[in-house]
Amino acid sequence: MATLSMTHIRTSNSPSGFSLSCSKKVYERPSRVGFKVFASETQSSSEPDLSVTVNGLHMPNPFVIGSGPPGTNYTVMKRAFDEGWGAVIAKTVSLDAAKVINVTPRYARLRASPNGSAKGEIIGWQNIELISDRPLETMLKEFKQLKDEYPDRILIASIMEEYNKAAWEELIDRVEQTGVDALEINFSCPHGMPERRMGAAVGQDCALLEEVCGWINAKATVPVWAKMTPNITDISEPARVALRSGSEGVAAINTIMSVMGINLNTLRPEPCVEGYSTPGGYSAKAVHPIALGKVMSIAKMMKAEFDSKNYSLSAIGGVETGGDAAEFILLGANTVQVCTGVMMHGYGLVKKLSLELKDFMKKHNFTSIEDFRGASLQYFTTHTDLVKRQQEAIRQRKAIKKGLQSDKDWTGDGFVKESESMVSN
Ligand SMILES: Cc1cc2nc3c(=O)[nH]c(=O)nc-3n(C[C@H](O)[C@H](O)[C@H](O)COP(=O)(O)O)c2cc1C
Repeated sequence: MATLSMTHIRTSNSPSGFSLSCSKKVYERPSRVGFKVFASETQSSSEPDLSVTVNGLHMPNPFVIGSGPPGTNYTVMKRAFDEGWGAVIAKTVSLDAAKVINVTPRYARLRASPNGSAKGEIIGWQNIELISDRPLETMLKEFKQLKDEYPDRILIASIMEEYNKAAWEELIDRVEQTGVDALEINFSCPHGMPERRMGAAVGQDCALLEEVCGWINAKATVPVWAKMTPNITDISEPARVALRSGSEGVAAINTIMSVMGINLNTLRPEPCVEGYSTPGGYSAKAVHPIALGKVMSIAKMMKAEFDSKNYSLSAIGGVETGGDAAEFILLGANTVQVCTGVMMHGYGLVKKLSLELKDFMKKHNFTSIEDFRGASLQYFTTHTDLVKRQQEAIRQRKAIKKGLQSDKDWTGDGFVKESESMVSN
């Protein structure tokens, strides 16, 4: 049976009006949303409901294709929608694809086995791939075709440009004309693009980020998510800047700067291109704990400073199971992105993720994602506080004296109770 669901869209490009000098205030977004009305399938009431509405965007589940090869052209994005992904973030585009020159091979894998072994589970993945090398016109045509064919599904464009206001404005304008539902801003590409003051070069510099985010948010008429780099000491700082500069959400993490390894036969680094290599971005299972740490840090900052109804967090990094996704949601994530997992297991992965997430929800009697979103965040504290809590627990355990301390303590009147106090069953 079809029911109606509403998708909010920004209706004006008014400046955010946030004061950057105030750190304690809980920020509430000025309302810049309208409504699109869509038909969607009703969930069976006995099953946990995986659907989420994030910044007004309604998704059948929180699983989102992360920007990269799984969102690189019409054919693969269509496949993602057909398999049931909650939303798709396309491969990052810029105005001039001619400047983007990729090399091959551009990936290298880490296995849970000795260096050089072709056996063992793949736990890490490194890439030196740049943003999309396909002409912008081609990508825009495909975005429009997808939105025409799947009007009720969420398509998000990932965009990146040089440090140039007019270029950002032109890119936003052209991408929005295709009907995409939101923009993810790639402030985090770790290799290649920083040499052109793009990607991580902006995401690692809060002053630059504030300025560029200001341009973007003054222009954009759909929700904006700022994608953060983990290659920085405190990821919550640029995340705060992006939100205070008018972005509706943050996404984290992009890949971690790494050197994948050295081939012990050839003595050359991997991935090896004509005998040479360059540091690249690390992803997959091995980065999941690091991503959890970064997402936790952003979530704590957002909980303290931003109104959770209007600001969103999209978590990324090493997701291959419903449990991996549940962990991110327990920290406060609204959606969970998957990139390398799809490259390794295919688009059907969303079915396994959904089943496993539902099993987790049934086990705890959670009926919706909001039932448990952020539930574990409260259990993170400082080490000093852990020491205080442990000392107090030990003091309390010592205060509860079980049984008699010595045979001289037996009494005639309390003899039966005293006996019982030392029984174990
Ligand atoms: C081959 C490859 C290409 C990627 N290209 C992009 C990109 O164009 N834009 C972007 O924002 N992130 C890109 N990423 C980063 C992913 O979207 C994601 O943030 C990161 O890989 C961590 O998630 P994962 O462990 O699920 O892959 C790429 C990742 C990989 C592996």
